This record gives sequence, C-alpha cells and structure tokens, in this order.
Amino acid sequence: MAGGGIAPSKGKAYPGNMTCKVFVTCIVAAMGGLIFGYDIGISGGVISMPLFLKKFFPDVWRKEQGMSPSTNQYCTYNSETLTLFTSSLYFAALLASFVASSVTRACGRRVSMVIGGTLFLAGSAVNGFAQNVLMLIIGRLLLGFGIGFANQSVPVYLSEMAPYRYRGALNMVFQLSITIGILGANLLNYFMANLKYGWRISLGCAAVPGIIFIVGSLLLPDTPNSLIERGKREEAKIMLQKIRGIRDVDEEFDDLVIASEESKKVQHPWANIMKEKNRPQLTFAMLIPFFQQFTGINVIMFYAPVLFKTIGFGSTASLMSAVITGLVNCLSTLVSIAIVDRFGRRGLFLEGGSQMLIMQLAIAAAIGAKFGVSGNPGSLPKGYALAVVAMICVYVAGFAWSWGPLGWLVPSEIFPLEVRSAGQSINVSVNMIFTFVVAQIFPVMLCKLKFGLFLFFSFFVVIMTIFIYKFFPETKGVPIEEMAIVWSRHPYWRKFVPAPDNIDDDRKPGSGRIGIEIVKKEQDC
Ligand code: BGC
Repeated sequence: MAGGGIAPSKGKAYPGNMTCKVFVTCIVAAMGGLIFGYDIGISGGVISMPLFLKKFFPDVWRKEQGMSPSTNQYCTYNSETLTLFTSSLYFAALLASFVASSVTRACGRRVSMVIGGTLFLAGSAVNGFAQNVLMLIIGRLLLGFGIGFANQSVPVYLSEMAPYRYRGALNMVFQLSITIGILGANLLNYFMANLKYGWRISLGCAAVPGIIFIVGSLLLPDTPNSLIERGKREEAKIMLQKIRGIRDVDEEFDDLVIASEESKKVQHPWANIMKEKNRPQLTFAMLIPFFQQFTGINVIMFYAPVLFKTIGFGSTASLMSAVITGLVNCLSTLVSIAIVDRFGRRGLFLEGGSQMLIMQLAIAAAIGAKFGVSGNPGSLPKGYALAVVAMICVYVAGFAWSWGPLGWLVPSEIFPLEVRSAGQSINVSVNMIFTFVVAQIFPVMLCKLKFGLFLFFSFFVVIMTIFIYKFFPETKGVPIEEMAIVWSRHPYWRKFVPAPDNIDDDRKPGSGRIGIEIVKKEQDC
C-alpha cells in the first residue's frame, strides 16, 4: 500500500520543525501540480489558434472561418479528433495511475516521480515538434502517462514528508500549483497566439516544468515511510532526523514502523475497503471526484477560449478572458487555504455550491437570451460580453474555494490507515475517468444542448449540494487517525461504522487526546 506509512497521530504532538528540506519538498510537489495544471490550460488555448487548427484540424478551421455550410456556432468545435486531442491525456493518466500505485510501493515515491517527469518531458518534445495529428495524440498520451505517475506519487510523498501539523496546508499547495499551472498556460497562449509557431512554443514549453520536476525529484531523498516499507530502517531513521531537524525522533519513528507493519498485515486492501465499516469513506472517495468534475469546471478550464469564441468574442479577447478566469481560479484557491481550517469543509462546500448554481443559471439565461438555439449571436455588445465574463469568474471563484481543493483534500483525510492508499487510488481514478468524460462530451453537448449545457451541470450542482448537506459530517480539526468518530456519530453513517467502544483495534476513535476533546465538547453542548 503506497500510503501505508502515514503515522497514526493518536493525539500525539511529534517534535520537529518545518525544515529547509521539507520546504524544498513543497517546491518539487508544486512542480508536480504545475505540470498537471499546465496541460489543463494549454490545450484549450492552442485549439483556439487559427494556425494550429489550419495545420491539424482543417475541417474545424474551415467552419470557424465561415467557409463551411455549418452556420450554428455552437457546433463549430464538434470534431471527434479535436476532442481526442484534449481528452486522450486524461485516459492515459487514468491507466498510468494504476501502474504507478505498485511502482510507488515497490520502488519508492521518488522513482515514480522521476518516471512521471521523464514521460512528461518526452510528451512535450513530441508535441512541440508535432507534424501531424498522430504525433499530437502520441504526445498527449505520453504527457498523460507522466501525469498519472506524478499525481499518484506526489501527494503521498508530500503527506509523508510533511510534519503532521502542516499536512492540510501542504495538500492544498498541490491544488494551488495546479491553478498556477493553468494560469501560466493561459498567459503563454495569450502571448503566443499571433506568432507563426506560437502553438509549438505553447506545447513545447511544457518541457520547462517537466525538467525542473525531474531534477528536483532526482535530488530529493525518499520518505522515511517508504524506506521502512522497503526494509531500510537505519537509513529511514537518519532521514527522519534530517527532515525534522532534530535528533530525538524515536516516538515518530516507532509509530512509522508500527504503521508500516500494520499496513503490511492487510493483504487485500481492495477487499478490505469494500467492508461495511468503510462504506461512508468509500462513498465519498467515489462521489467527491465524480461531483467535482460534474460541477462543469473543466468546460471552462479546457475550453474557455473556445467557449468565449463561440459566444462571439474575438481570438485575442477569448484568450485574455481565459487569463482572467485563470487568475480568479488561482487567487480564490488562496482564500480557501486561508480559511479552510477555521471555516470548515462543509461551509465551503455549501457556499461554493450555491454560488456556482446561481451563476450557472445566470450564464445559461444570458447566453440563451442572446443566442437562442440558432447559435447566431450577430455582434455581442461589449457590456453584455463583460457581464458574461464576470459571471463566469464568480462561478470559477465558487469552485476554487470549495470543490477544487476539497476534492483532493477530503478523500485524502477520511480513510483509516490500512486502506488509505487504495482509497486514494480510487479518488484519482474516478477523477481522471470523469475528467476524460467531460472533455469528451463537451463539444457534442455544446452543439446539442446549446446554452442548456450550463443547466445540465447546474442539475448536478443541486444534487451534490444537497448530498453534502445531508451526508457530509465536518472533518475540520480532526486528526486523520481519529476520523472514525465522525462517522460513528453521524445520524446516517453510524449504521455502518461501529461506535468507538465497539471498535476492536487500538485506533479507537477518541483514544487520542484530541479525540477525547471532541467527545467532551460534544457532551458539553
Ligand atoms: C480539478 C481539475 C480542474 C482544476 C481547476 C482540480 O481540482 O481536479 O479537474 O481543472 O481543479 O483548478
């Protein structure tokens, strides 16, 4: 189990500081997020560049230039190969995340990171020098394999290196770096749009974060948890002393050894995760990434420039609008990092969901009123266009401080140790499957549902917000090894998770200091 070494907190406060080594770890992890974000942002920009379309997708280019009989603008970008260009990456990432899980466990987190970076670098070279659609797709597949390895190993690496007090914040730094990657790609697309080989530079520049990621991964040490898991206890202890910046790490080290041994006893984490006592966590590990993708965010992230062009913006205005939404996405993530541990997960989920819903309805009404179903806007008044961009920005902000970062944070903090890694694999895979699905269905849905596309996603936002309201208990401030108490006290999930006294292992919820405090507080109320 890749994440098998995360130590139980049991209410303990391990000594140790945020050292320089751990800080560098953050930077490397940030590179892992950047390569993912860069790819999310780059494809939509290049497919809105006429020179790129003319070379690789001449049919779409002809439609865009008005040379083709299709008059409905909603359908301009409805091309199977064009869609494949965007979505193939996520399919490859999905496949790679399964393989990466075993490599990460057997060879260490760092090896997976280096493999991921190398595949990614190869993909950016193939794309930068692409001569035909086949090369483009092969390049995208290589990028996707790289991202699958990186997304599997980096979050595990992070949570194992981080002092436990900083685990939540470090987790969200990963999401922040995804948004920085998207913004960087949007900016580059904006500046490259009018250059003859601008699209080559946009695609090829993925090599820059790729190289930094490989070099960083080669220089970094492996985690103590992984070293213990592979029988290198001496090395692991020295490493732990180095990253915590102190000599006395015995308590944490002993817990890591126990955790590793406990996790080795679980021969079949996949069978274990299906047990009734894991029902609530499993439900969230599947539904949270599904719902995250069905907020419709990637319609904006992948296709913002195309969407803006469809609703009547010029090429440059479309790319500029994508830069603006990218900036809002990034800044709003900072808001989430700042308040998530005070405001709580539930509050953010509910507020973000309501904000997205209102904006989706407003956007559908605005686009519908101007376009109707014929998809011919004539000229779009400037004030009208600005209002649509503003509504999209408010929608993106709602996502970026709720379902964006929480979509990664919550599944990583709710599972008991013995099935945590399996749970994370489920989260990554479900996320990639539905990222692929949304990328694949957007152009055809825009063509068929027209402005109703936003209504389609708003339906899911209603469902997910009600679901959170009824079924998600607050997890803020609860150490991960104490999390079972949260489920056992929930009016619905208590059916599946035994009350603390009936839990038969030594990780009884509430057994640690903080757990006892929670129980006390609830009794006081
Ligand atoms: C999602 C991505 C999305 C990004 C936007 C991430 O949490 O998993 O699919 O593109 O947020 O910032």
